[in-house]
Amino acid sequence: MSDKFRLPPRYGTGEKSVWVEYIQLVAEVKPKLNLGQGFPDFPAPSHVPKALAEVTTSDDPLLNQYTRGFGHPRLVQNLSKLYSPLIGRQIDPMNEILVTAGAYGALYSAILGHVEDGDEVIVIEPFFDCYEAMIKCAGGVPKFIALKPNKIHEDMTAADWVLDYKELESLFSDRTKMFILNTPHNPLGKVFTRQELEKIADLCKKYNVLCLSDEVYEWMVFEPFQHIRIATLPDMWERTITIGSAGKTFSVTGWKVGWAYGPANLLRNLQVVHQNCIYTHCTPVQEAIARSLEFEMARWKTPECYMFSIAKELTSKRDMLNRILKDNGFITTPPDGGYFILADWTKLGNKLDLSTEKDEFKDYRFTKKFAKEAGILAIPMSAFYSKEHKNLGENYARFCFIKKDENLALAEKLLQEWKRR
Ligand SMILES: Cc1ncc(COP(=O)(O)O)c(C=O)c1O
Repeated sequence: MSDKFRLPPRYGTGEKSVWVEYIQLVAEVKPKLNLGQGFPDFPAPSHVPKALAEVTTSDDPLLNQYTRGFGHPRLVQNLSKLYSPLIGRQIDPMNEILVTAGAYGALYSAILGHVEDGDEVIVIEPFFDCYEAMIKCAGGVPKFIALKPNKIHEDMTAADWVLDYKELESLFSDRTKMFILNTPHNPLGKVFTRQELEKIADLCKKYNVLCLSDEVYEWMVFEPFQHIRIATLPDMWERTITIGSAGKTFSVTGWKVGWAYGPANLLRNLQVVHQNCIYTHCTPVQEAIARSLEFEMARWKTPECYMFSIAKELTSKRDMLNRILKDNGFITTPPDGGYFILADWTKLGNKLDLSTEKDEFKDYRFTKKFAKEAGILAIPMSAFYSKEHKNLGENYARFCFIKKDENLALAEKLLQEWKRR
């Protein structure tokens, strides 16, 4: 009886993801400051929630009913208007875009829609943790390659973490189906350069591999870095599926609207997975995101346009949290994009008795104890590595800085109080 109703082995042992575990930790420990999960603690641009309020109370009853399965028409039209000039080709809104339940849903549709039993998928470590689970669920075999610092020095940044191209090419073979790229990168904050993307693109072409490019932090790139979409490199559109997120773009992560775009023949598989799982995503939220995109496109490239102002706002928040962490004993890796800072905590480890925590990995023990004693929640970096390589992440914790300045200042106060104790 019990075996009959076991968890299907494709879901592994069913261990809690770090997100499930740390949200539970927040409820239990109630840290004074949550710099764990990646979401803003300040309001979205006011036109965004206003659009949703208007949509849900509008006289048009259809705006609260099911919409087109593969994406609400007004939203896919606007996504096509947004991305066509950025990609340098006319994107067909009906066949080359899928809107679904967050970038998470888009990743799921892409991986389940393309990976078959035994297919190999190359993943860069550290990685957003759901990639591995989704690949395995599809019957695929993840092949990991770690970004590593090219040299250790005081002023290291995310750009100093690089791939070894010989090692990378050694992972490609005729079994390789997909390469997963994430730029700007979570948790490292690395923004891949054109040169780095060209190397990856060349290998994808040489071995006839599909590139799944997770670009949810596309607007959060700090000068002088630039976000380059790998789909714009020569002959890459044909083999690239790009993922975006309205939650990240408009600072409304709870809305869970995401999308994938790419050539119709590749998108078709995603649509099939989506139609058999979600079928159609929330209409009013899609309509509100469509209106929000129109609003921003009407003020494109002005200083007020959120797609540009958010990067400026985040640059000063990054600098602020980076300074606070450095001043208080962490060795940081300041990011060039995204909204997380990696910090080596080992110089502070001896201030805490980690033996009271039962976790296997040191960074889990540190972040849990640190939340209890210092009152600040961070995420253990080993969560972003495969089981075999978790040791590579154990010295680091990930701190989110898309928070009000007063809360970043609270981090400084809490750290100082904790160190004085
Ligand atoms: C790299 C990356 N991809 C995808 C997602 C999921 O985005 P969404 O909330 O739109 O599902 C996240 C969320 O943190 C992320 O960091």
